[in-house]
Amino acid sequence: METIRTVERMKQALRFVRGQERLLGLVPTMGALHEGHFSLIQEARKRCSAVAVSLFVNPAQFGPTDDLAKYPRPFERDRQALEQREVDYLFAPSAEEMYPRGFSTAVTVGGLSDLFEGRSRPGHFQGVTTVVLKLLEIVRPDFCFLGRKDAQQDRIVRQMVQDLNLDSVIVTCPIVREPDGLALSSRNAYLKDEDRRRATVLYKSLAAARRDIEAGERDVTRLLAAVQGVFVGEPEVTLDYADIVDRESFERVRSLGGNCYILLAARVAGTRLIDNALIEEDGGVFLVTV
Ligand code: PAJ
Repeated sequence: METIRTVERMKQALRFVRGQERLLGLVPTMGALHEGHFSLIQEARKRCSAVAVSLFVNPAQFGPTDDLAKYPRPFERDRQALEQREVDYLFAPSAEEMYPRGFSTAVTVGGLSDLFEGRSRPGHFQGVTTVVLKLLEIVRPDFCFLGRKDAQQDRIVRQMVQDLNLDSVIVTCPIVREPDGLALSSRNAYLKDEDRRRATVLYKSLAAARRDIEAGERDVTRLLAAVQGVFVGEPEVTLDYADIVDRESFERVRSLGGNCYILLAARVAGTRLIDNALIEEDGGVFLVTV
């Protein structure tokens, strides 16, 4: 594995890969790697003969009250983990390399970026789309692997790829969870003992909604009441939002139909966690994936 710090060297290395007509996959990350990230890398290895992982804690997607300074950065551990997983290129630029003095462009996907996570974190998705566009232009991968864990991010990046006629195909991978259901996240490291246990309420509420849907419930108000009811049992966890939205528009739906997400965001002792379940309908049959 080659560790690359500059945009110029990254472009040069990947011109070589493309010259060999190998399929190239990109897995963008902010590091503090866990099994969720590794699952994306595994999928990339399956589909592509060359895999690049980017590791960049992107300041542009953190708000003034966010955790940029304390975001975990175990670089050497991450590098070794990627080496073991036979990644070909680790792209780990500095903030100055990605945003040199005078940098003044931003990419915004209108509408979708203002909802849910965007409402709670103004400017967040503009930071995400700007950096992901830069990464896609630097690496020019055939496939770019994202996690369904960040469903809104996935939807927004897909819109950008479509709107700007980018050549990369976005591949969305399933949510990897701990044995007790908590979705893996770099931010879980902030959770201590009791809070770590409390955080399972997100998964439990999605599982409750799944049970209800499997039992025939189709009414969104009643489903959301069931989700909120699970949170009532864990008062130390503050629910930020729980909604059922159309998978494409992210508009709230009234009754189940077509493909939807149950979206959740909650705070546990100052740590913000998000999670979701995918609801797919096929001819009146509903499949719920948490
Ligand atoms: P980061 O939070 O490091 O996540 C990198 C990728 O891993 C994202 O596509 C995310 O959805 C995926 N991921 C995280 N936890 C996961 C889990 N439990 N199961 C499956 N996939 C999971 O998302 C970002 O970084 C940044 O916004 C980025 C896209 C890199 C742009 O800076």
